[in-house]
Amino acid sequence: MHLPQIPVRAALALALGLCAALALQACDTKAPEGEAEAPAGAVETPESETMTSDGEAKVRASDCSTCHAVDQKLVGPSYVEIAKRYSGEGQAAVKQLVKKIKEGGSGNWGDVPMTPHPQLSDADLTAMVQWILSLEPGEDESADAAEAGGETHSYKTDDGKTVQTDFAVFTGPDQKHVTEDLFHGYLQYNSYCFRCHGGDAVGGELAPDLRKSLEKGMTYREFLSVSMAGREEKGMPAWAGFFEKKDIRAIYGYVKARQLGLVPAGRPPSVYD
Ligand code: HEC
Ligand code: HEC
Repeated sequence: MHLPQIPVRAALALALGLCAALALQACDTKAPEGEAEAPAGAVETPESETMTSDGEAKVRASDCSTCHAVDQKLVGPSYVEIAKRYSGEGQAAVKQLVKKIKEGGSGNWGDVPMTPHPQLSDADLTAMVQWILSLEPGEDESADAAEAGGETHSYKTDDGKTVQTDFAVFTGPDQKHVTEDLFHGYLQYNSYCFRCHGGDAVGGELAPDLRKSLEKGMTYREFLSVSMAGREEKGMPAWAGFFEKKDIRAIYGYVKARQLGLVPAGRPPSVYD
């Protein structure tokens, strides 16, 4: 059934290979206008398999999005901000950024360091950087906004206080069972964080009580930032590459719910009970 397609694919691969061998722009100018402007996400069309969208795929396949978003600062600057800063600097900027991602480090945007990426080849990194530098403000805002949520939830603690969260803690008609996300946070915390920060998030001998950190005003962004980048010199490991943003979000939710007194020590009642 698939046999008749092979010659077509082979020819296409050849053409793309040729394209890749030439400068990126040389290929882009040959593509008909409508196709050159195809959305980068449309991977089914062969036209999008240029080096640029290849770069996007590589960024998405690597650990970059644990710390970066397209249009919003996370642990690191947004891709759009990076594109803005280096616009017009051409190949020199590409080389410099490839080296920076490979070696990691801080200083250009603040004190938080980027983790090194020695396993990525210069060719892959060049494609990634070219995609980042091709971005313009306004792209993908909706995706980031959707993640930020926005709704607030009110709950009563056991001692009668009303507290608010920007994520759901409980679910179900009786609101007694914690959400799947929160339970995920409980499991991850008590598998990976407890040995330093203490079981049930009560603080440990090796590391601070994270409930206190939140009580003192640490925001989700700051929590995410320290969790992903770590503070290696102080014994806090970097979790980027191991955890995704949504895992840290869930752990944060669990610790926050513990801090607010909504979730008791031990295994909280969940949809799995
Ligand atoms: C642990 C979090 C983390 C991960 C993972 C990460 N970055 Fe970064 N990135 C940062 C931080 C923090 C900065 C700002 C560094 C600075 O201030 O110089 C940064 C900066 C950058 C810059 C701008 C560098 C400069 O000097 O201006 C680029 C480009 C970049 N990252 C791309 C990537 C790509 C591509 C990946 C995936 C291969 C990636 N990052 C993975 C945190 C991260
Ligand atoms: C090997 C021990 C260890 C493990 C495991 C560990 N941490 Fe830490 N963590 C530390 C230490 C030590 C600090 C304090 C660093 C400092 O003094 O600034 C810390 C600090 C933090 C902070 C900043 C607290 C503050 O008040 O500044 C956060 C957030 C954090 N850890 C999250 C996590 C999460 C989430 C996990 C599990 C995924 C985790 N940690 C696992 C050792 C650890």
